[in-house]
Parts: sequence; structure tokens; C-alpha cells
Amino acid sequence: LGNGLALTPQMGFNDWNAYGCNVSESLIKSTAQAMHTNGMQAAGYTYVNIDDCWMTHNRDSSGRLVPDPSKFPDGIKGTADYVHSLGLKLGIYEDAGTATCAGYPGSLGHETTDAATFASWGVDYLKYDNCNNNGVSGQSRYTAMRDALAATGRPILYSLCNWGQENVWTWGAGIGNSWRTTGDINASYSSMLSIFHSNVGLASYAGPGHWNDPDMLEVGNGSLTATEARTEFSLWSEMAAPLIAGTNIASASSTTLSIYTNTRVIAVDQDPLGKQGTMVSSGGGLDVLAKPLSNGDVSVALFNETGSTATISTTAGAVGKTGASSYTLTDLWSGATSTTSGTISASVPAHGTVMYRVAGGTSGGTTGGSTGGTTTPPT
Ligand code: DGJ
Repeated sequence: LGNGLALTPQMGFNDWNAYGCNVSESLIKSTAQAMHTNGMQAAGYTYVNIDDCWMTHNRDSSGRLVPDPSKFPDGIKGTADYVHSLGLKLGIYEDAGTATCAGYPGSLGHETTDAATFASWGVDYLKYDNCNNNGVSGQSRYTAMRDALAATGRPILYSLCNWGQENVWTWGAGIGNSWRTTGDINASYSSMLSIFHSNVGLASYAGPGHWNDPDMLEVGNGSLTATEARTEFSLWSEMAAPLIAGTNIASASSTTLSIYTNTRVIAVDQDPLGKQGTMVSSGGGLDVLAKPLSNGDVSVALFNETGSTATISTTAGAVGKTGASSYTLTDLWSGATSTTSGTISASVPAHGTVMYRVAGGTSGGTTGGSTGGTTTPPT
């Protein structure tokens, strides 16, 4: 969406994955405070987002949405003021149907009022869900809210949450800053893997201001091991996905925080060229992805989907790098650097991902004014 926002994928927090319906002002404020002091804000996390269940079951006499006073005693405005005082931004949730998924009032037919209400509260981000939509086309429902948000004059990042329905990637760029490409993620390796496979082929639809959204991060949650959590963070970054942390931030472990704040991996996600990485090769569950970066480097992810350690190999040429006798590889998780004449290879643990930034030579993707087709090296 050409509203000047999300020129790189949005970064922030959302309460849904860790708390479900148990959202509150105190949770949002304590999370914002933790992000302010634990390095996340410095690493680029900006939006603190409220999900479903923040409102009462009825609109007020003027037709406006009402924050649940027991959950938000200072209202959304008071919560936004606090979040803004820390230099962070506030996100909210609504639904493009008659009711949210949890049964609270939806915005269908109330778009102008609700967008104006959000703007008056100082909201900076809207996640717009798809439940109870009465079979009205997503394109028209999501367009109505886009126009209502624009009419407020406030910059509000617009995140479409229609679960990949109606091939949203084919029309999402003109309507929202990002669009969900799948149903909901959960905190398991199998869920993460299946969402990865659905999202990875959609690279051509993504770019600055308009991103594929494979759903929020489960790093720190459920049955994901640290290796699997690093894989989710690696793959989401390689796919230029929104990085929306979905765990209990205030009590996150040092391992969890070290994943969320890996600035080398974040730089891949946030690279201003805005290319989503693509699959260069895959076979037997051993995947090689490449993402061209703005300075001519290429980020390479070696992902081992299988249940045992394996060596995954590719070449500089295969990821779009040519013209040098040697290339520098930086391992984005360990920070170690090495040189290679062309082979890019690593022993990768089960469910693990090794990420390299490849520098040197020329990038097939960024010479000649075209950044397309980087999986096929020039000959
Ligand atoms: C469905 C969405 O996909 C989830 O991310 C979450 O927002 C829930 N609805 C809330 O009801």
C-alpha cells in the first residue's frame, strides 16, 4: 500500500500467540516497558499490538467501539499515550465482518466510524481479521477500511488478516501493507514448516510497503526447541516477513531474547532492497534459499527439514554471485567469517538453519538494473 509505511517489513509484538483472549492494558504496558529496556526496541521492534478481545460486546450510543474498562481502565488512548512515551507505536485489532473471531463487534458497515475512533486514540497499526464476513468479498471489505484509514489523515499501518483467502497476494499490494498468506500458526515445528512451504513461493508479490505475512513468530513458545525457533526466525527473515514477536516478552529467556535481537539476521529481513528470498534448490528436505541484498551481498539460508543432521551445499553461482575468485561468508548466528572459492556448505542439525551473508564478486541480481531471477546465475 502506498501510504509510506512498512518500507521494510514491520517489526513488533502481538499478544495473541502467548495470551489468546487475555489481553489487558497492564500486559501491553509491561510488554512495551520490557521491549524498551531489553534491547528489542533498539533492534527495531516498534509496534506493540493488541489483538482480539479488547472491547465490550456493545457499541456506545454514538456507534463507537468501547474498550473493556476492566481490561483497559485508561482506555486505548491512555495505553497509546504510555506506549508513545517510550518511543514505541500502538497497534490494534478489528475484524472485516460483523463480529471478531471471539465475538466482539466487527467493523463491516462501520469502517468510517471505527477508523476515525482508532485515529482519535492515537493508534498506529491495524490488524484487520476476516471472521463473520457474511460472504462479502475480501477485496471490497478490505478496501473499505483502507479508504476509511486514509480519510483519517493519520499514518496507520494496515495489516490484512484474511488467511490467504481469495489469493490475496494478487490484490493485496494495493490495499494493505501486508497480508496473511495462511491460516493460524501454532507453536510447533509442523505448523511452522507447513506455513513456510505455503509462503515461500509468493516472493514475486512482495516488496517495500507490501509484504507476504506468514503469521506471527512463535519463538519462545510451546514445543519449539531453540534450534527450531532459530529456524523460524531465519526463514521469516529470509522471506522478508513481518517480525511480530508472539511470546511473553517480560519473562523471555536469554536464549529467546538473543534470537529476537540477532541484528545480523534482522538486517536480512529489513534490507531496503525489499526482496523476498526464494528457494534455489530443495530435495530430500534439504532447502537452499537466497535473498539478494541492497549492497550486492546475498543472504543464503540452508534449512534442514529432516530429523537428522545433514550437510547442505550450494555454490556462489547458484545463489547469484559470480566474478570473484573468493567470497566472504559470515555465519549470521555465530558471527564467524570464512572464505570460499565458491562452495557454500554446512553441517545443519535436524530442523536447523544455517544462515550466511555472502559478500564479494558481483551479484547476478543487482547488476544490469534488474533484481529478478537471482536463482539463475548469469552465464
Ligand atoms: C484469527 C487470526 O488469524 C489470529 O491471528 C487472531 O487474530 C485471532 N483470529 C483472534 O481472534
